[in-house]
Amino acid sequence: MSRYSRILGTGSYLPPTVVGNDALAARLARDGIETSDAWIIERTGIHQRHFADAGTGSVDLGEQAARRALDAAGLAASDIDLIICATSTPDMIFPSNAALIQGRLGAAGGAVFDVQAVCAGFVYALTVADQFIRSGLAQRALVVGAEVFSTILDFKDRTTCVLFGDGAGAVVLGADTRPGLLASALHGDGSQAAILCTPGRVRSGVVSGSPYLHMDGQAVFKQAVQVLERVAREVLDKAGCTPADVDWMVPHQANIRIMLHTARKLGIAAERVVQTVAEHGNTSAASIPLALDVAVRGGQIRRGDHVLLEAVGGGLTWGAALLEY
Ligand code: ACO
Repeated sequence: MSRYSRILGTGSYLPPTVVGNDALAARLARDGIETSDAWIIERTGIHQRHFADAGTGSVDLGEQAARRALDAAGLAASDIDLIICATSTPDMIFPSNAALIQGRLGAAGGAVFDVQAVCAGFVYALTVADQFIRSGLAQRALVVGAEVFSTILDFKDRTTCVLFGDGAGAVVLGADTRPGLLASALHGDGSQAAILCTPGRVRSGVVSGSPYLHMDGQAVFKQAVQVLERVAREVLDKAGCTPADVDWMVPHQANIRIMLHTARKLGIAAERVVQTVAEHGNTSAASIPLALDVAVRGGQIRRGDHVLLEAVGGGLTWGAALLEY
C-alpha cells in the first residue's frame, strides 16, 4: 500500500513585544537614520513585527509552536519520532535547535536535526520530513520553523532592519495511506550567495566578518519573482494540477509586492493568498508555518483544501510544495 504524509496539526507562537513602524522609525531616528511608516508600508506591506526580548531564543519560540501543533494533532511528544527545525538563527552552534526542542518536550529517542535554507527553510524541512515518512524511516514528524532575526539585524541599516520579525510555526506530519503532501520541488543557486547573507563566523572565540544580515534588495526582488513562479508551476505540474486547483496560496511572507506579483503571474486571486506580512513582517523560515496556522485556526484553510506553499531565501534557495490539507 502506498505511504504518504499528511498534516495532523499546526501551531505557532509570536513573542509578545509588538513594534509598529512608527516605534521602529523613532528608534532609528535616535541614530540619525530616517524611515517612515509610509515608506515601509508602500514598499513592503509591513505595519508591525514582533521582537523577542534579549532572554528569548528561537528554541523558546519553537517549543511553544511545537506544543500547540501537538495539541492540535491530539498527540503527545512521545508519539514523535522525528523533529526537524528550519532556522538560520539557532540558539547554539550545536547542538541543533531540534535537539534542544526535543529536550524541552521530554521526548528522547527520535531523530533530530536542523535544516538551514534561510527563508526557504520550512519548505525544505517539510519536504525532508515527507521523504522520511514516505520511506518508512519515520511515522510522525514535528517540523518547526523558528527564528529570532532581530538578533542579526543591523539597526543602522534601514534597507534591511525594517523588513524582519521574530516568531515560530510548526506542523505535525503523520503517515497516511491518502496523499497529503502531493508534490514538492527544491532548488538552489550558490553563485548568488552574496546578494543575501550574514557572513560572520566565530573562530577561536572571535567573530570575524559581519554578524549582520546584508541584502541587495533589488537583486533579491528580481530573482524572487522569477524563481517563485517557475517553482510553483513545477509542483503543480508534478501533481497534475493547475493554478485553478489551488484553494489557498501560503507564500513565504517576504514582502507583499513579491507575494502578490507571484500570485498574479500564476492567475491566483489576491483573496486566495494568506497574508500575515502586515502583522508579522518577514520571519524567514517561520513565516509559512505561522501563516498556515493563522489561516487554519482562522477557519480559512479547511480539510481537503489544496494549499500551495512557496518560498525563496538566502543561498539562493527556493522551493514549493502542494498539499491537500
Ligand atoms: N526608509 C526610507 N527609505 C529607504 C528605506 C527605508 N527603510 N530603505 C531604503 N530607502 C531608500 C533608499 O535609500 C533609496 O533612496 P535613494 O533613491 O535616495 O537612493 C530609496 O529608498 C529606494 O530604495 P530601493 O532599494 O530602490 O527601494 P526598493 O523599491 O527596491 O525597495 C525593498 C526596497 C523593499 C528591500 C525591495 O528591494 C524588495 O522588496 N526587495 C526584495 C527583498 C526582500 O523582500 N527581502 C526580504 C528578505 S529575503 C527573502 O525573504 C526572500
